[in-house]
Amino acid sequence: MRIGHTMKVQVLLFVSVLSLGSVHSQVSYSIPEEMLKGSLVGNMAKDFGLDVERLKSGKARIFSRDGDKYVELNKERGVLLIKNRIDREALCAETTPCALHFQIILENPMEFYSVTVEVTDVNDNPPSFDKTDVKFKISESAVRGAKFILDRAVDLDVGVNGLQTYKLEPTENFVLRLHSQADGTKNVEMVLEKALDREKQEHLSLVLTALDGGEPQMTGTMQILITVLDANDNAPILTQSIYKASVRENSPVGTVVMTVTATDADEGSNGKIAYSTSSTLDNARGLFEINPESGEIRLKGNVDYEKARSFQINIRASDYGGLVDSCKVMIDVIDVNDNKPDIQIMSKSNVISEDAKLGTVVTMINIEDADSGENGKVHCSINNDIPFVMKATTENFYTLMTDSELDRERAYEYNITVSCSDEGVPSLSSSVTLSLQISDVNDNAPVFDRSSYEAYIVENNTPGLSIFTVKATDADWKQNARVSYILEDSSVNGVPVSSYVSVSADSGIIHAVRSLDYEQIKDFQFRVKAQDGGSPPLSSNVTVKILIQDQNDNPPQPDKES
Ligand SMILES: *[C@@H]1O[C@H](CO)[C@@H](O)[C@H](O)[C@H]1NC(C)=O
Ligand SMILES: *[C@@H]1O[C@H](CO)[C@@H](O)[C@H](O)[C@H]1NC(C)=O
Repeated sequence: MRIGHTMKVQVLLFVSVLSLGSVHSQVSYSIPEEMLKGSLVGNMAKDFGLDVERLKSGKARIFSRDGDKYVELNKERGVLLIKNRIDREALCAETTPCALHFQIILENPMEFYSVTVEVTDVNDNPPSFDKTDVKFKISESAVRGAKFILDRAVDLDVGVNGLQTYKLEPTENFVLRLHSQADGTKNVEMVLEKALDREKQEHLSLVLTALDGGEPQMTGTMQILITVLDANDNAPILTQSIYKASVRENSPVGTVVMTVTATDADEGSNGKIAYSTSSTLDNARGLFEINPESGEIRLKGNVDYEKARSFQINIRASDYGGLVDSCKVMIDVIDVNDNKPDIQIMSKSNVISEDAKLGTVVTMINIEDADSGENGKVHCSINNDIPFVMKATTENFYTLMTDSELDRERAYEYNITVSCSDEGVPSLSSSVTLSLQISDVNDNAPVFDRSSYEAYIVENNTPGLSIFTVKATDADWKQNARVSYILEDSSVNGVPVSSYVSVSADSGIIHAVRSLDYEQIKDFQFRVKAQDGGSPPLSSNVTVKILIQDQNDNPPQPDKES
């Protein structure tokens, strides 16, 4: 309720009609609503030409069918005063003009006067909306020109004090359009002027202001809360178009290789992303899998550097609205030292003659290591207590050859161990052992166990008696070491020695051929040759001396000279 300032009571109309016997008069006043109790409505005594005494004597009173609720008569002063505050809007609503009609009745003589009090509007009501706020949900895909009906405001005041217009702020996305209706009211529409973008602004708050034409002006507001609904207007975006990753070969199944990430500015299913692989090249198929929700790429099979050194996977990120982005993932396989050097014997002698020349090649070897870099660099060696060396010919090829004299009689076989190891950390190695036999050459003559022999035989022996045995040994092997004994030709007392003794070729047993007589021969000597079965044979000889021992086989004889 706003009352006050320059309100003035104005007598707008004064009509006085005289009729027969009684005075009929009518007076009108115009007052603003909301005057304080006791305020002056009008000086009726003066306006009707009555004095105060007459009012008293005539017991002047107000007659009103509606009761005398608003105005009272002050007989002492002859004035009409406000009895109760008048609210024009309560009294008349939208009816104009708004007026109170009543009569003032007097007795002695009986007469009445009609009074009309017009109640004028004061701008004491602001425009107001039913609700303090209104909510809209509008898709960001709504097109320009889309209309949204807003509630009207109501202003109880009338005329210029009533509702005049509206304004909408801010004006960035929407403009206000008012349509005048036949009944004088206005339909209020909010029209989309500039498309909404949920990703930029999800919630908008506008204020609709209703203004009246009063002085001062009064306003009412209603908040318009807009929630922008998502439309799938954003595709997923992968953070990179090409990703690079690496994985060690032999990594266990389930190893996380890397994670791709896409973002989607939309919300809900429009922004939910599913990752998948697409058109993956054959060599990567079955080796990698992607978690559709997290974008994590894991190993599903075994990667072997020796089979494939890199992979390319095409990844697709799709939102549930069907928009897609794609990228490539390049995966390098890192070599792990998982291959031992592989030793291949290309060619090999099983036997070598002990007289082989220095530098004779006995084995050719090829070495491969499937790993790369340091992991595939190989060094080889052989045991060093043997008369062989290993030499690299070209990369990965080695030859084994003799580097000093061989002697079957010292070592008849060699076990040559070839050991190879790579430079990986830790290093892997492998080895092979080759067995090499040394074949015999007749390079040793038989050797008698003594440098000379002496033997005794008692005279008168039986012929064929074995006297003793000579023995020679040969360091060579088999045939080369088979010794035969031969009696060398010589003569004893003019007869061949073979008429005295014989030698058994196999056993070296020396037999007496005849019975010997000390009185004829006291001793004799000969040579025995030991010869091996080699080709050509080798031999040596030894001197054997036979001493004949006397027996008392002759009677004493008289000394012819005595
Ligand atoms: C060589 O190896 C074989 C088989 O292991 C073994 O019987 C032989 O005694 C070895 N020879 C040498 C000279 O070590
Ligand atoms: C017997 O051996 C000696 C050396 O031990 C040799 O000089 C001689 O020629 C050999 N004699 C025969 C007949 O082989």
